[in-house]
Amino acid sequence: MIIDVHAHLNDELLIKNVEDILKECQICNVDKIICSGYDKKSSFMAYDLSNKYKQIYCSLGIHPSSTQDFDDEFINFVKSVSLSPKVVAIGEIGLDYHFPPFDKNKQIKIFVEQLKMAHLLNLPIQIHCRDATGDLIDILKQNKNLLKNGGILHCFSGSFETLHQIKQLGLKISVGGVVTFKNAVNVVELIKKVPLEMITLETDCPYLTPHPFRGKINNPSYIHYTAEKIADLKLIPIKKFYNEVRNNTLQTFPKLKNN
Ligand code: NI
Repeated sequence: MIIDVHAHLNDELLIKNVEDILKECQICNVDKIICSGYDKKSSFMAYDLSNKYKQIYCSLGIHPSSTQDFDDEFINFVKSVSLSPKVVAIGEIGLDYHFPPFDKNKQIKIFVEQLKMAHLLNLPIQIHCRDATGDLIDILKQNKNLLKNGGILHCFSGSFETLHQIKQLGLKISVGGVVTFKNAVNVVELIKKVPLEMITLETDCPYLTPHPFRGKINNPSYIHYTAEKIADLKLIPIKKFYNEVRNNTLQTFPKLKNN
């Protein structure tokens, strides 16, 4: 059985079809999905979905592009639900320097605040990083004491050097559909070298749909295309791959062991 560690079923493209998607997931052996928040509203929705559906868990966080949402209402909400068996992580949080204008200092401040929150509430993290690897690694190193609960760098496509640093910090990565793209030369070379114990799987749906459905709306039932590609690249029998990745995932997000 497969776990999708980062999916946006709370996105308007998917939320209306959640029940159909979950049926597809059952057919495709996807038994657990972490629905990740990226702003206040989507975090509330992720929490609601996790309470409504057995297979859905949630991660609560403010993405660097929505820093204005990190307010008392959000903080109090996360604190009030953090002990729920369905709240499994803080995220997605991080840095994104892709679309100017952006306020680096504000992004860093809100990221560190959420690292503190994850530490305080004993939850692992889901990190988003785009065009900000240098700052990200610096901040994680400076705050290594806040990382004891571990977590993932989601949609990883960085360098081998970055991967090594992520490993040193006790974090794992999640790999999405990009690895199946025909032009994904760099990611493919990287994934060949990633230690198996660092890998978890994600869709980041509704985006980054794996081949052969690239261009369509993604959903967690497509995650096996990504898994099969990685197992192929690493020359590992698919059953063994699924077992190892599941162990990594349950180790990283211990509350997924509930139910
Ligand atoms: Ni995402």
